[in-house]
Amino acid sequence: MAISTGYKKIKTAVFISGTGSNLFSLVKFSKLSKSPILINLIISNNPKSKGLKFAKIFKIKKIIFDFKKNKLDEKKLLKILKKQDINLICLAGFMQILSKNFIKNFKGKILNIHPSLLPKYKGLDTHKRVIENKEKFTGCTVHYVSTKLDSGKIIIQKKIKINRNDTPRKLAKKVLTQEHKLYPKAILSIFNL
Ligand code: GRF
Repeated sequence: MAISTGYKKIKTAVFISGTGSNLFSLVKFSKLSKSPILINLIISNNPKSKGLKFAKIFKIKKIIFDFKKNKLDEKKLLKILKKQDINLICLAGFMQILSKNFIKNFKGKILNIHPSLLPKYKGLDTHKRVIENKEKFTGCTVHYVSTKLDSGKIIIQKKIKINRNDTPRKLAKKVLTQEHKLYPKAILSIFNL
């Protein structure tokens, strides 16, 4: 459970790798008076991530970390997060696996959004797989991050009907629209708001 610090907004870091559409929705949400979070930091493992433009637009500090390089980077990042008093981490289209040590350092304070109805369809290419398996429904899930991929405690889910003419591309768009609504709802719910 993330620690709420009373009336003060929770300092939050958002981790991205790509488009950053979930980041954009979290930034907009964070600016609402009902939001319990403030986004102080944007972290990307990909220097070319389009989502980094939101750091510029919204004047949010950004750091690019090549996690693959070595554990040192992660240790450096942990120090920065602690120094910036970050109390919540939202993975949003983040395509890097965090180490067990990193996750342990932020136990119960790392959320992720995944484009399927977990625990079904963990991992990648979820839209292609649900269509291939002729599923009637798919969806998206916000969950706590644990050391096992896409397996942490589920916070909230949204079920989405799959139409006969849906392609993986069309489905991805449909699910992403719901993700943008779901992530803010998940944050409100973990703070019982
Ligand atoms: C989203 O479907 C998210 O669930 C997955 O990556 C996709 C892109 O997210 N992890 P974004 O546009 O970069 O937020």
